[in-house]
Amino acid sequence: MNAPIPAGPTVEIPAAILALLRAARHVVVLTGAGVSAESGIPTFRNKMTGLWKRYAAEDLACAEAFRRDRALVWGWYEWRRKLVMQAQPNPAHRAIAALAERTPRLSLVTQNVDDLHERAGSRDIIHLHGEIQRPRCFACGQAFSFGPGIPDEPEGGRRLEPPRCTHCNGHIRPGVVWFGEALPEDAWDVAARACASCDLMFVVGTSALVHPAASLPEIAARRGVPTVQINPDATAFDDRAHFNLRGAAGEIMPRLL
Ligand code: OAD
Repeated sequence: MNAPIPAGPTVEIPAAILALLRAARHVVVLTGAGVSAESGIPTFRNKMTGLWKRYAAEDLACAEAFRRDRALVWGWYEWRRKLVMQAQPNPAHRAIAALAERTPRLSLVTQNVDDLHERAGSRDIIHLHGEIQRPRCFACGQAFSFGPGIPDEPEGGRRLEPPRCTHCNGHIRPGVVWFGEALPEDAWDVAARACASCDLMFVVGTSALVHPAASLPEIAARRGVPTVQINPDATAFDDRAHFNLRGAAGEIMPRLL
């Protein structure tokens, strides 16, 4: 059942998936960076460019890196925040929002720190890895608000000192979960419970390499719940997915409607 199904624009989505979708009472959609790739936001497996080309995402997305060179790390996140603010939701984001309107219950769990699902009209999104627009103090945790407007970052990126906390004068850190940090407990609990009670799960645009997020589809799969993976490339979840639709999320997700 899990042989890859090439799903280019001319290939039909298997009728079995559409039947499962019609019958489903509770659908979980887990998304990763691949869903925003067609909006122009590089995934974490893409080669880095500009000032960041000597680094891998893992070298910048951790507390040690921020302690070692906070201007490098803050500059990278401001550069990404600019990309996010300039980006527009793509057909995959919009299709997921529309699917929620047509399904008795849909839980959207994302590893993405952008707000493209929100801007496409999805509600109650479970952000497992935080949100780039919600930074906080590295020292005391106080929330910090960005000023209005898109950050004025050069195309190749630059080093940039983070702002200071108005409460304790500590440094402001990105509002995302870094490697080695725990996920927000509430988000994890809600996501794990959704996977423990859904009757259909879509796994879209994630390499399924980063845990614990990658273990969510396993929770559903272990219960025998059908899982549908949408990704142009092979992933760590290929062998466990009931259906592997090989293709871009922006092409395939709208056709589920
Ligand atoms: P990755 O960058 O690991 O993987 C992106 C996935 O998207 C890959 O499997 C690509 O094949 C797939 N992809 C690319 N273009 C696509 C498209 N148009 N449609 C569908 N899929 C496409 O991203 P994540 O799995 O989200 O964590 O990464 C998980 C976490 O690792 C991220 O949240 C981030 C990262 O380091 C933190 O920042 C903590």
